[in-house]
Amino acid sequence: MNCTSGLRVDSRLRFTSMSWIPYFSGFMALVLLVFTMGKWIMICLKNNKPRFPLPPGPKPLPFFGCIFQMLRNRPTHRWIYKVMDDMNTEIACFGIFGVHIIPVTSPELAREFFKKHDSIFSNRPVCMSAELSSEGFLTTGLSPLGDQYKKMKRMIVSMDIRLATRHYLGNVIRKMIFNKRFFGKGMEDGGPGAEEVEHVNALFKLLAYMYAFSLSDYMPWMKIFDFDGHRKVLTMAIACVRRHHDPEIEKRIKTWESGLKNEEEDLLDVLIRLKDNKGRPLLTTEEIRAQITELMFATVDNPSNAVEWALAEMLNQPEMLQKATEEIDTVVGKDRLVQESDLARLKYVKACAKEALRLHPYAPFNVPHVSTQDTVVGGYFIPKGSHVILCRPGLGRNPRIWGDSLKFKPERHMNDMDDARMDLNDPELNMFSFSTGRRGCPGVLLGSTLTVMLLARLLQCFNWKIPSGLSQIDLAEGMDAGFLAKPLFAVAEPRFPQFN
Ligand code: HEM
Repeated sequence: MNCTSGLRVDSRLRFTSMSWIPYFSGFMALVLLVFTMGKWIMICLKNNKPRFPLPPGPKPLPFFGCIFQMLRNRPTHRWIYKVMDDMNTEIACFGIFGVHIIPVTSPELAREFFKKHDSIFSNRPVCMSAELSSEGFLTTGLSPLGDQYKKMKRMIVSMDIRLATRHYLGNVIRKMIFNKRFFGKGMEDGGPGAEEVEHVNALFKLLAYMYAFSLSDYMPWMKIFDFDGHRKVLTMAIACVRRHHDPEIEKRIKTWESGLKNEEEDLLDVLIRLKDNKGRPLLTTEEIRAQITELMFATVDNPSNAVEWALAEMLNQPEMLQKATEEIDTVVGKDRLVQESDLARLKYVKACAKEALRLHPYAPFNVPHVSTQDTVVGGYFIPKGSHVILCRPGLGRNPRIWGDSLKFKPERHMNDMDDARMDLNDPELNMFSFSTGRRGCPGVLLGSTLTVMLLARLLQCFNWKIPSGLSQIDLAEGMDAGFLAKPLFAVAEPRFPQFN
């Protein structure tokens, strides 16, 4: 028999080709399934019945837990919210293959998890999206606890924040990292070119799939099948990001090595030049590459989403637009652009940005925190290895904490806005913005500055109007994440043509 290509077995079952692969994969899948079930049964037998109950939740099937309900009810986060709503609970437990997923919408419980028991709940899950996006857990944000996390965290915290905050907005993060706004030529009018559009789209693709519910995270042996297609999408997005980053990083490392550079001008220089206590380079090329990708996607999502929502809400309540613009004119005047040093005094603009973060967080859940030991929180037993996920809109819209919780009311934050304070964080977790504790965001100041600056400049430079033919901006939310279902379009009339 001629076997010209690929995947075939001849009649005598001689392996003249590669058609044995599906049989072998099926066999391996079966072995692994039996192994996983065996392990699960051992865990069940070993566990003494806890004295405290697990948080309430849908009745799980033995071994499989809620997996079938989760697969049937997409997007998963909306189903989780609905179940919690129906059960009238602010903490719940969803089991999947022996892992307990614990969503939380109560600020008191959130504080107990992330403040009182911070040291127990500061691990991260090992999952496919995080592994791919961090090039095998090389970065700060996505790495589980361990030496690599400690190394990368120290590096982030000790970064020169003044250097970091010197460049902002628009193409800020590219400018900050690579000292250039554009990978290509950009557009003649100063807007992003095809390369930048592709780059930012790829970053948002990574974000969309980050910690998304994927079967293979609970049954790692399924990774090779990629049933839900997540691996394929993530691999393409990472390839795209690296196509733009890698040549810049490699060229820069060579420039330093050849002695042609002697001054640090951007974050890439800082990362290359960091030294360990023996004076050797602290980071490998792979670590620099992975950390830069993480800094990129950590920066683009929240500020852009908050500003788009703030403007949309303010367009529907134009007195807010007027109040914010008057504040900017009073603090800054009309003959120069808003500067970073003005931002702390723009109390109303800051309050608008904070209200957008409260009411319209970009992601439905915080990055998961994994517990490193059995604990009791709020009278519930939380087993070791649970994934605690704070519900971002659940906290920000909790009617027990926020009167008129679904209304955009910047005034509610005015008491927090003093002239000296620039950050939009709520470390008490009554709303969820930058989180708190060991795994809290190290970019609070930069993230707040970018958000307020972007909003302030848009308000300062343009008179905003709802497009003709519409009476209101449609504030419907997207199904998969917290962004506006339709991108915001509005009429922008320049206020100061001399600045444009
Ligand atoms: C409005 C802007 C931002 C918001 C709302 C935000 C929010 C968050 C949140 C909620 C977390 C997870 C905290 C947790 O697990 O409890 C986080 C982590 C992180 N953020 Fe931000 N962030 C923003 C901007 C930035 C910026 C500008 C950077 C750096 C350039 C940054 C870098 C990071 C890093 C490295 C982590 C991981 C920390 C760790 O796991 O130890 N973020 N951020």
